Amino acid sequence: MEIKNLMVTGGSGFIGSNFIRYLLKRNDFTGRIINADKLTYAGNPDNLKDIEKNCPERYRFERADICDFQQMEELYRRHDIDSICHFAAESHVDRSIKRPDAFINTNIIGTFNLLEIARANQNTFRLFHHISTDEVYGSLGKEGLFSETTPYRPNSPYSASKASSDHLVRAYNKTYGLPTTISNCSNNYGPYQFPEKLIPLIILNASGGEDLPVYGDGKNVRDWLYVEDHCDAIWTIMKGGNRGETYNIGGNREMENLAIVEMVCDMLDEILEVDAQGPRRNLITFVKDRPGHDRRYAIDFSKLRSELDWVPEESFESGLRKTVRWYLENSEWVARVKSKEYQSWIDEHYGS
Ligand code: NAD
Ligand code: TYD
Repeated sequence: MEIKNLMVTGGSGFIGSNFIRYLLKRNDFTGRIINADKLTYAGNPDNLKDIEKNCPERYRFERADICDFQQMEELYRRHDIDSICHFAAESHVDRSIKRPDAFINTNIIGTFNLLEIARANQNTFRLFHHISTDEVYGSLGKEGLFSETTPYRPNSPYSASKASSDHLVRAYNKTYGLPTTISNCSNNYGPYQFPEKLIPLIILNASGGEDLPVYGDGKNVRDWLYVEDHCDAIWTIMKGGNRGETYNIGGNREMENLAIVEMVCDMLDEILEVDAQGPRRNLITFVKDRPGHDRRYAIDFSKLRSELDWVPEESFESGLRKTVRWYLENSEWVARVKSKEYQSWIDEHYGS
């Protein structure tokens, strides 16, 4: 399957920007990438500044809202798109609890628009790859893993909106024969993640001597995957995955939140040394739990391993260390997203 003009939606966000960087380095992709991103608070043009400068023939940024059908259709035609890799979404559970409306619009209506455009161009369309989450499966008890056949039981407005979009993608394959693949991945971490999510938030708060908020008892479990491993899994599925199929992606690395926070504190104590405030673990503050907080996620990715020979490469320790160093070394990026102007713009548009 040769992709010539790939539309990546949400390519200025955390995983999308890592994916574009990853794909442009590969020998088995020779096409062009059109990054269609609305630039919400989570979309940051700085994430791909160097790519924009160094790869003008193969990479193009277009500011666009996937909820605007006409705008997306015009982009699709102008760039002669043949495939879509769909990352664009509102992605933060806590924001979905406070203000679900943007999640319904972008995650459901936005996905529907893209599917409709692909369907209208079906004679030349090659692949719609939809990026989703393990959160659609709900919450696990102490035992068990999510597999591709686990029933959907989303618990937050975020996961419900993602579940809805997954169902639409599936239906477009079953009903119209649209060539689709879906991936449901566990929690990612790595460079360029917006510091509202656990790991970057803790790195930045701990390095700045601020409180480290841990929800509830800190014993909720997530299965963590380094972002580059996620990108590699996505590309593996796009190349070799059976059309109409879903693949789970996981890191095989279950961690309790509190253990992660402690690891970050210890790494920072080692890299920056302990100051007069004492060990950074002293900053840990247990706060009120998130409503509907899923207790445990864990992924069975044996389908991806056995069908497409994919396994994650980065260990959690080395990935976390790389991530901590990235945030310490990219103070300009951090200063921008943490600036008062940026934060008050977010509060104004998204609620504080
Ligand atoms: P992110 O919030 O960092 O980035 C989302 C991007 O989408 C931003 O660049 C934003 O500007 C863009 N966007 C939002 N609304 C848009 C709209 N209406 N039109 C066009 N662009 C819009 O998110 P992320 O963490 O990179 O997640 C990317 C995808 O991966 C999402 O679909 C998410 O559900 C999924 N996912 C994330 C994780 C994770 O751990 N972060 C895990 C599994 C799946
Ligand atoms: P998060 O990064 O928001 O990802 P998700 O909710 O999609 O899994 O949160 C990861 C875990 O960390 C989750 O169990 C909630 C918890 N958490 C905290 O304890 N404190 C925080 O400040 C945040 C943002 C999350």
